[in-house]
Amino acid sequence: MQSVYMIEPNAAHPVEALRHGDRPLSDRPTGWTTVAVKAASLNRHDLFALGGVGPAMNNLPMILGSDAAGLDENGRAVLVYPVVEDRDGWSLLSERHQGTFAEYVHVPEANLVPIPEGMSVEEAACLPTAWLTAYKMLFTRARVEAGDTVLIQGASGGLSTALIMLATAAGARVWVTGTNERKKAFATSLGADEVFDIDSPLPDGVDHVMDSVGAATWAHSVASLKPGGTMVIPGATSGFEAKVDLLWIFAKQLSILGSSLGSANELAALVNFCVTHGVRPPIHDTFTLDDAPAAFRAMADGTALGKLVLVPDTGRAG
Ligand SMILES: NC(=O)c1ccc[n+]([C@@H]2O[C@H](COP(=O)([O-])OP(=O)(O)OC[C@H]3O[C@@H](n4cnc5c(N)ncnc54)[C@H](OP(=O)(O)O)[C@@H]3O)[C@@H](O)[C@H]2O)c1
Repeated sequence: MQSVYMIEPNAAHPVEALRHGDRPLSDRPTGWTTVAVKAASLNRHDLFALGGVGPAMNNLPMILGSDAAGLDENGRAVLVYPVVEDRDGWSLLSERHQGTFAEYVHVPEANLVPIPEGMSVEEAACLPTAWLTAYKMLFTRARVEAGDTVLIQGASGGLSTALIMLATAAGARVWVTGTNERKKAFATSLGADEVFDIDSPLPDGVDHVMDSVGAATWAHSVASLKPGGTMVIPGATSGFEAKVDLLWIFAKQLSILGSSLGSANELAALVNFCVTHGVRPPIHDTFTLDDAPAAFRAMADGTALGKLVLVPDTGRAG
């Protein structure tokens, strides 16, 4: 089947590690089912894998991708919860088990979530990783409520756009930092109340900060919180070695919380939230599998506004 995969990483030029072509469909574990992929979306995790970061390195060659939506064996439109828990532990699709950038993917039967009416298969394919992570960060970890002020570091990435749209829909006051004017304008178009340059002082302290940027924004995040505020960290795109003044943390009695993905129940709750609030993931562009390098370059160059979606040639949504 047509697949986008890697055989070995390339730390200096990750996109060059990308391969497109025929890969066999792997053996299907007991209790798993097969989804015909109609759309799959990129995450920074896929780019990190090409650069040699993550558990996939022990299991090469590996089909990339953790996000997918398509048709189950009964022809039902489904999206795929991307976390697998088995006797080897917890993993994301494309780490230990073959990923979603292919015509078909095997997944545990319990990992299927129906796509609601009115949501396209491309939109559904954006929810399982970045959007689920955003949902858990905001509502399970930080317990954001209407009227709270939330600072989101980064404006146009998959996770940032999810955070902006979900927090806005929940009635929060949403402040966003962006790396350039185009990104900041995009955040405004998604509902952000105010946008700022990265690292610029804010007019007031904030209740919560969502920081996936890491080294480039950590000090600003900690300094921007009100006393008693909460910071949630799901990653560190710009680097893991952050310099921070520890005085802020205890003097302001801050809570700093790590967060990763979410549960299958949270994915179902996210889908319902999107239906109730009429929220849909913004898609920058869609690409065929053989054009995957262009999608990965857009992510690596930071030119995309919202999600990048791959559509198998055989799987174009009808
Ligand atoms: N733990 C988990 O479960 C989990 C799940 C999903 C994502 N993540 C992590 O969250 C992060 C974002 O993922 P994504 O898929 O949304 O990636 P992405 O689409 O590539 O977005 C990257 C984001 O980083 C922002 N950014 C700001 N300053 C930056 C800098 N100096 N260098 C690089 N980026 C900068 C960008 O802001 P602008 O738009 O303003 O340029 C953009 O919003 C990654 O680190 C990823 O691993 C973790």
